[in-house]
Amino acid sequence: MSNSRKPNIITTYGTFAKPHVPFHLLILGIETSCDETGVALYDSANGQLTHRLHSQIEMHAAYGGVVPELASRDHIRRLIPLIEDVIKESVCSLNDIDAIAVTQGPGLGGALLVGTSVAAGLGTALGKPVIGIHHLEGHLLSPLLSEPRPDFPFVALLVSGGHTQLMAVEGVGSYRLLGETVDDAAGEAFDKTASLLGLSYPGGPALSKLAEKGTSGRFKLPRPMIASGDLNFSFSGLKTAAQVLKRKLEADNAFDHQARADIAAAFQASIVEVLVAKSLAALNACNMTRLVVAGGVGANSSLRQKLNQATAKSGQKAYYPPLDLCTDNGAMIAFAAAMRLAENPSPLENSCASFNIKPRWALEEISAS
Ligand code: KG4
Ligand code: ZN
Repeated sequence: MSNSRKPNIITTYGTFAKPHVPFHLLILGIETSCDETGVALYDSANGQLTHRLHSQIEMHAAYGGVVPELASRDHIRRLIPLIEDVIKESVCSLNDIDAIAVTQGPGLGGALLVGTSVAAGLGTALGKPVIGIHHLEGHLLSPLLSEPRPDFPFVALLVSGGHTQLMAVEGVGSYRLLGETVDDAAGEAFDKTASLLGLSYPGGPALSKLAEKGTSGRFKLPRPMIASGDLNFSFSGLKTAAQVLKRKLEADNAFDHQARADIAAAFQASIVEVLVAKSLAALNACNMTRLVVAGGVGANSSLRQKLNQATAKSGQKAYYPPLDLCTDNGAMIAFAAAMRLAENPSPLENSCASFNIKPRWALEEISAS
């Protein structure tokens, strides 16, 4: 999410890839797992998507990170007006909706409760089914909203503020963990290093912008676990290495604007090189040719460029969600529900009035369900 984003942005989309749903479904998607209130309406018959997002970034920036209690309270304020706006904009009524999809987890407990309570209340009042969606499944399937649309199977690189995982994806609901970070997530490392460089939360996009003015070759930071022989990651040492470098430059009175940009460039080069190397290793280990990249860090242009170059060289291909659907949004939740219902429409028969949130929930667990 870019710092320059207005607190409330409205995006209306045209037609997106159709999920091959054999019947016509209008799905309302609700996302409140962290610091974005996202609402969308997805029409599976024609791929028409309307979505609205309220970002809380300005509110949390003053604290340098997400304050869970403030996040929950803001979701309460924003969610119902956003639903009303999306319905109005889509020129339909709440009664036209076939199902309500809501992020059930993982995420902040209080924030998830806002979305799931509203979804359960709406579902009960309207007599519509409520479908709980795994937040990472939303990210993982969102590249299928873009053209060209990747076929299954593929390797998914999930790179967000809370997760860094490589998954083998055989189909909707079939997710096998190949590797993950043993400490910080990639987005978290971006945010922490950005803060070190004096950039405000969330620093990923700002650091990436600063890196454009820097020279990545001036400083060399480590490529953690690049030769570990497995598909795991570690990013906390990278942030520490950047900190040590900053202190040394400060001691030499050389921590000027150019030095900040050069550290940003060196940091980004390191993290991108590791993500590219492990993604290619995962593709080769699974004998697959398609890589799907999802989650906030998937918006990083250097990562996209390097992944495109590397996969093209080896006859493989990388796929991404539309740029502004990389970070959290309601569209990916509505779309994931459409994909799930295309596989198995039976949840439509069970209206779900009560709801359990799952703040900690491994994506692999839904493979079994
Ligand atoms: O997927 P997301 O919106 O939220 C989570 O589910 O965590 O990802 C947010 C993360 C933040 O850490 C943010 O700094 C990072 O994605 N991010 C970026 C970029 N855009 C967002 N990191 C690097 N470069 C970007 N352009
Ligand atoms: Zn996310």
